[in-house]
Amino acid sequence: PLDHPFHNEADTDWSLPHNVRWAREKVEAMRKAEPPFVPLQIGGQTSEGSATEDGCDPSRPGYVAYRHALGGPEDIERALQVAVSARESWKNIGWQVRSEIIAKVAAVIAARRGDAIATMVLDAGKAVMEADAELSEAIDFADYYARSFSRVGAFDGVACEPLGTVLVTPPWNFPYAIPCGGILAALAAGNTVILKPAPETVLTAWEMVNCLWEAGVPHEVLQFLPCPDNEIGRSLVTDPRIGAVVLTGAYETARMFLSWKPELRLFAETSGKNALVITASADPDLAVKDLVKSAFGHAGQKCSAASLAIVEAELYDDPGFRRRLRDAASSLKTGPSWEYDSIVTTVIREPGDALKRALTTLDPGEEWLLEPQMLNGNPCLWSPGIKLGVMPDSWFRATECFGPVLGLVRANNLDHAIRIQNDSEFGLTGGIHALDPVEIDAWRERAEVGNAYINRPITGAIVQRQPFGGWKRSCFGPGAKAGGPNYVPLFSTWRNEGLPQ
Ligand code: ALA
Repeated sequence: PLDHPFHNEADTDWSLPHNVRWAREKVEAMRKAEPPFVPLQIGGQTSEGSATEDGCDPSRPGYVAYRHALGGPEDIERALQVAVSARESWKNIGWQVRSEIIAKVAAVIAARRGDAIATMVLDAGKAVMEADAELSEAIDFADYYARSFSRVGAFDGVACEPLGTVLVTPPWNFPYAIPCGGILAALAAGNTVILKPAPETVLTAWEMVNCLWEAGVPHEVLQFLPCPDNEIGRSLVTDPRIGAVVLTGAYETARMFLSWKPELRLFAETSGKNALVITASADPDLAVKDLVKSAFGHAGQKCSAASLAIVEAELYDDPGFRRRLRDAASSLKTGPSWEYDSIVTTVIREPGDALKRALTTLDPGEEWLLEPQMLNGNPCLWSPGIKLGVMPDSWFRATECFGPVLGLVRANNLDHAIRIQNDSEFGLTGGIHALDPVEIDAWRERAEVGNAYINRPITGAIVQRQPFGGWKRSCFGPGAKAGGPNYVPLFSTWRNEGLPQ
């Protein structure tokens, strides 16, 4: 697999009827199957752990889609011991062998693509096409990181050492690709890994780790350890045998980890409040298309999602632009993920305080361009909402809500729009739609975001071409970018081997 240059994996071609049929059949089969049980797996041994938990399908409230084991203190101790004792052999096996195994992961994932799609549809409420794109990203991570380590050891006299054992704590919104990428990067650099999957999407993580083992990642090198987010989880994060923690999650979670252990080596991609700037020079049809995709894909639950559009006054005041935006958003099919053509699917759980407020309340100056509706009597399923008149100093402008709500802010001109965009604690993604190259350059120079996009959606970073990661409070650690050249080196430390004088 390493004998070809890196290329990005193509998504499934949904214009072909047999592909649609294939995905439908996979999803139907999984929906009809008996709810499975997901164990822990430590050193190749599965176990029922110390407790069990229900796994939900947000499209079917109240339905137990599977059950999974939860690790307790003894399981954590065992996982740490196995992970520590496997370090030496995994490091010494050499980066070439590790790379070959990681490259094989790409092939195994590709072969199990349909099962992985169906798993995400059921477990995360992810739309079929979104789940499919996530698998392309996971395959890309494998193919890309398999080639990354040879570049790491490239300096004369300086050797690269793994950090030891890395704990990967991923989110539920990209339940496959994000843990897969974190694990593979850490493995490529010679670390052993413990995966503590997101509690909401344990089944998807299980599907993914099985691909890694099948491809040849030794069982003692990768432990699968769902455990609760309480004192037990804390003991894992803070254990001195953990060399680094990879977190994708809320800013508050990263802060909490650091309050537990200030010296923690933490690589975290955290919250965002992402905006797309649209100037009067933009092609309004393209801008609307990309805005709607960025705001409502995966029901607005991507960390990269557009939650704000900052629109130059001339366009903002244009009733034609507003109508196009409203029509585009309301034409997206809102439905459960197991319906193949749903675009806006469920949110992961019944909305908490922030999302509920965003979906149901207007602040002074705001009005609905499109009012969201709860559908099918399912509190997790909401049609897209668009607020006009969001003020630059308002609650909605500052708060990450993680759902299908977009706010429009009126800007006097581009300079004003950039100032509004940058007036944020966060800096994950952002974009501009403009056709004037002077405007594009001005924005590019000043936008305080980790991923700055021009005339394209602000979600869906492509491995190698758009390495992903934030700025400001959207990032902890040295700011390495997933899917970029400095990601695998993050999991190494350098040892000078003392060249002669
Ligand atoms: N990498 C994901 C995206 O770019 C979060 O949308």
